[in-house]
Amino acid sequence: MAKLPLLALMALCTFASVALVNAVEFNIEGRVYCDTCRAGFETNVTEDIVGAKVRLECKGYKSGVLVYSVDGVTNSTGKYKIVAHDNHVDQICEVALVESPRPDCKEIFKNRSRAPVMLSDDNGISSFNRYPNSLGFLKDKPLDICGAIMKLYQPAEEY
Ligand SMILES: *[C@@H]1O[C@H](CO)[C@@H](O)[C@H](O)[C@H]1NC(C)=O
Ligand SMILES: *[C@@H]1O[C@H](CO)[C@@H](O)[C@H](O)[C@H]1NC(C)=O
Ligand SMILES: *[C@@H]1O[C@H](CO)[C@@H](O)[C@H](O)[C@H]1NC(C)=O
Repeated sequence: MAKLPLLALMALCTFASVALVNAVEFNIEGRVYCDTCRAGFETNVTEDIVGAKVRLECKGYKSGVLVYSVDGVTNSTGKYKIVAHDNHVDQICEVALVESPRPDCKEIFKNRSRAPVMLSDDNGISSFNRYPNSLGFLKDKPLDICGAIMKLYQPAEEY
């Protein structure tokens, strides 16, 4: 009679410890900026965007079907944090821009609208923190100073 609850308890403990082992959690931290020069990259006049909506999306590696997604939003420093659960092997995970709160800076530029993020702990990365590349919306009109700034980024002329 007394053996049954004990067995049940043991089974429960085994189950709980297995669940604990599988409870992997990733902290994904990134930034959303406004590309005020429409440069396609960050400059010294790039601005943080507060309240930008982003989304983590994981799609089946072969199927391309969306299997996991978590929403995030940037804080007062233009940073977002998304917590993702479990390992996502055989999936392609990316963070992507969803929406900008700035009417003057909401254009999506393909190259800077998504960034890959690796969400499995068996790939040699021992940390559970992930820092994907910054994502940027394009400003509708470049700032006046951009002409001068862009000159600095031009490749040196060939002689
Ligand atoms: C904004 O979010 C980042 C990333 O999570 C965090 O490091 C930072 O402390 C936050 N800043 C504020 C003011 O909440
Ligand atoms: C977009 O990215 C591709 C690949 O990295 C690059 O070849 C291309 O020049 C970029 N386009 C712009 C406009 O920056
Ligand atoms: C950005 O760089 C340009 C060119 O060097 C400079 O004139 C400008 O003051 C800089 N702006 C800021 C906000 O650092």
